[in-house]
Amino acid sequence: MLAGFQNVTFEFGARAIVEDATWHIQPGERIGLIGYNGTGKSTLLKLLVGQYQPSSGTVERSRTTSMGYLHQDLLSFDTEESILQVALGAFERVLQLEKEIEELGHELERTGDEKTLHEYSDRLHEMDTLDGYSIHYKTEEVLQGLGFANADLHRPYKEFSGGWRMRVLLAKMILQQPDLLLLDEPTNHLDLPSIEWLEKYLLHYQGSVVIVSHDKYFLNRMVTKIVEVYQQQLHIYTGNYDYFEKEKAIRVEMQQKAYENQQDYIRQNERLVERFRAKASKAAMAQSIMKKLDKLDRIEEAGIERPDIRINFRVDKQPGKVLVELHNVSKAFGDNVIIENSSIEIDRGDKIALIGANGKGKSTLLRIIAGVEQFSQGERKWGHNVEESFYAQHQLEALNLNNTILDEMKECGSQMTELELRGLLGCFLFSGDESDKKIRILSGGEKARVALAKVIVSKANFLMLDEPTNHLDMHSCDLLIESLNRYQGSIILVSHDRYFVAKTANKIWEIVDHEIKEFKGGYEEWVAWKERMAKQELENKKPEKKPETVKQADNKQKQAAPPPPPPPVAKQQQPGMAIDKEKKKELQRVQRQFQQVEEQIAKLNLRKTELEASLADPSVYSDKTKFLEAENGYKKADLELTGLNKQYEQLFEKIMELES
Ligand SMILES: Nc1ncnc2c1ncn2[C@@H]1O[C@H](COP(=O)(O)OP(=O)(O)OP(=O)(O)O)[C@@H](O)[C@H]1O
Ligand SMILES: [Mg+2]
Repeated sequence: MLAGFQNVTFEFGARAIVEDATWHIQPGERIGLIGYNGTGKSTLLKLLVGQYQPSSGTVERSRTTSMGYLHQDLLSFDTEESILQVALGAFERVLQLEKEIEELGHELERTGDEKTLHEYSDRLHEMDTLDGYSIHYKTEEVLQGLGFANADLHRPYKEFSGGWRMRVLLAKMILQQPDLLLLDEPTNHLDLPSIEWLEKYLLHYQGSVVIVSHDKYFLNRMVTKIVEVYQQQLHIYTGNYDYFEKEKAIRVEMQQKAYENQQDYIRQNERLVERFRAKASKAAMAQSIMKKLDKLDRIEEAGIERPDIRINFRVDKQPGKVLVELHNVSKAFGDNVIIENSSIEIDRGDKIALIGANGKGKSTLLRIIAGVEQFSQGERKWGHNVEESFYAQHQLEALNLNNTILDEMKECGSQMTELELRGLLGCFLFSGDESDKKIRILSGGEKARVALAKVIVSKANFLMLDEPTNHLDMHSCDLLIESLNRYQGSIILVSHDRYFVAKTANKIWEIVDHEIKEFKGGYEEWVAWKERMAKQELENKKPEKKPETVKQADNKQKQAAPPPPPPPVAKQQQPGMAIDKEKKKELQRVQRQFQQVEEQIAKLNLRKTELEASLADPSVYSDKTKFLEAENGYKKADLELTGLNKQYEQLFEKIMELES
């Protein structure tokens, strides 16, 4: 084992993050650490590296395990060095050897003595074993993979934005090749090509990797194990994200069924108690049933706890038909031309997604539109009554860490009273005292919620959103999509999340050859159109044209008719009978049967509880055959139990009848 938790409990004040959690990280594992925003994923990584101490239990770390830990706080690192130098820092020993070899070489030239020669060749040998001559090549390869152009490699680190700095640090970390790599949301700062590159790189990584991520696709391709932080517990699933989703649904369903069965059982017994109670002769029986119920180990309802943020973008005023116009706008950073002589407009009702690789200038264009970026030529014009709000990239870094959440909201200049602001923050799950939390201690997702709340306060009719889904958990992301669809105003957004773009945009913008190209349609239509264009181009190049193949019509499946409602159960009225010998015998017989059924029910309930426990046992659920066996057993017991319970009730009715 490389590292892990043994019965670890950790709290922030009165708030428990995990209770009695156990998790062992084995060599060669690729684990996705997931959970809703604020559940404690980043905190767990800090526990693993020893930045926090558990309040009970032990954090285990083998002394020989080397760890690399990528996280947001690294953004405070700054240096004059070039990014290549920073990344090369991964090879400390090799860099030192390079220096020593150079010095020894000079000395050798001067003195030519034997001792120096020995030292010199020793160093050369070590350099060789460390594969030291390829470090420059390796470093450049990784930096390029993460999206850096060759020309950038010698530019100073401090000239780069937060997102790009994170990439440099990520490059350095993976070049160090630690035994355990802990990556806290590494994809937040990457565009699609870089994410794909990182996926490929990590798939062949020698050490173990723990990745915190809210990106389903990334997790599906990357990990073989999922650890979910949920309700202060760590739930381990041996599979990728899809497997986790299915498995979790099964586990929840099982628990819910078990809960419902138990509730049925309790209700039935309570009814019996009520009835028995009315009869003096049956008071003892009622007592014993009540005792039995008291002893019952209650199963909890499986109700899913989800952070339902309530995002409700409101519009104060209606704008004119055209919101913004760009006229022959040109923008370049030195030799790097972003757009040239470009003209375009945004109309009321547009929901535009600006897509394409990083470095093409998406954020720059958004900033030009927002009016916070200078441009060399052309004109930008606002329409009438436009009230805009800009959610800039790395918006979270713009929050004042020393403010409380409430202060941060007060500072954005809305007319809202403190009470109203607290109400709004409640919608973003900061209720009561929580709005007095300092921004400094908030999790990534919590900061994103504050930034979103600030956008909402503005009641703008035009939103400019740069990577708004970064840091948000998948559920919150879905809620954001819903609210953007309800939003009455217009939007332009930048996102590398294909799902998000597909669900929100009705127009696609792309920067091609320094011009803004507009496609009037959603993302899926755009993809189809792109494919058609590519095909056409290919066919134009071919000497002969093939006849177009006829597409098969989709077979529309007929919807299955709903099952007919069950026939109403006829109630049978039994005429009363006089007590005689026969009847007494019958009563005894039924009572015996009643007891037997009761015993059987108790046994089956026990069996069900055992099976339930085994379903939650990692050695069972990670083994498909064992799991299916247990699951079938469970279902069977469940079915049998329903039958028995019915029988139990019927027998009871009979007893009542015979006794009357
Ligand atoms: N130093 C601290 N003192 C008190 N509370 C803290 C501190 N640091 C974090 N928290 C709180 O603990 C909770 C867990 O934070 P953490 O950053 O671990 O969450 P996370 O799972 O990484 O969330 P996200 O997905 O948003 O990144 C949050 O509610 C956060 O506000
Ligand atoms: Mg986090």
